[in-house]
Amino acid sequence: MIIRKAKPSDARRLCELGNQFLREISMYSPIYKLEKLSVNKKNIASWRNSVKKPEKNFYTFVAEENGKVLAYLELIIKENWPKEYFKVKKYGWVECIVVDNKIRGKGIGQKLFDFAIKFFKKNKLKFVRISFLVKNEYGANFWKKNKFKEESSEMIRKI
Ligand SMILES: CC(C)(COP(=O)(O)OP(=O)(O)OC[C@H]1O[C@@H](n2cnc3c(N)ncnc32)[C@H](O)[C@@H]1OP(=O)(O)O)[C@@H](O)C(=O)NCCC(=O)NCCS
Repeated sequence: MIIRKAKPSDARRLCELGNQFLREISMYSPIYKLEKLSVNKKNIASWRNSVKKPEKNFYTFVAEENGKVLAYLELIIKENWPKEYFKVKKYGWVECIVVDNKIRGKGIGQKLFDFAIKFFKKNKLKFVRISFLVKNEYGANFWKKNKFKEESSEMIRKI
């Protein structure tokens, strides 16, 4: 398996995996919209665009084996602001790791996370942050196993 930067030609597969991810996390949070979740031209184009012209400091990588994309990883280098209040000016943020649900539990997520750490270290960062939906037990176990400690808590209510 190799881990490489995502290419525009990965857009269809990223769209499939991204939809799979959204379908899953929509079970844990009320905010997602599922009606338009399909692998259609518009959604593929949106993925292609985000790979071609990513936001500043946003990186998408894929894990590929025998020409097939099995998983993807989104990383961000974030800045604390206003800078003068922080001794840590920048940190790594794992936006998401998504492994095809047919092949979970085989260490692919772990390899992507190890890659993320190397990437952040190469960028001279000293901290990495993540957030996950508390009802996502699989995700929660994965982050705890990787030694993340609770730092803050995000909450939601309907108004
Ligand atoms: C979380 C995720 C990335 C892990 O990837 P993976 O390739 O399946 O995981 P790995 O095989 O590398 O790691 C296994 C670890 O995940 C957790 N895990 C694996 N299977 C699990 C299960 N059925 N239930 C709960 N936790 C489980 C455990 O901590 C496990 O460690 P262990 O093997 O020592 O018990 C993957 O499940 C996924 O894509 N989930 C949907 C997207 C998501 O929630 N991403 C995380 C938030 S962005």
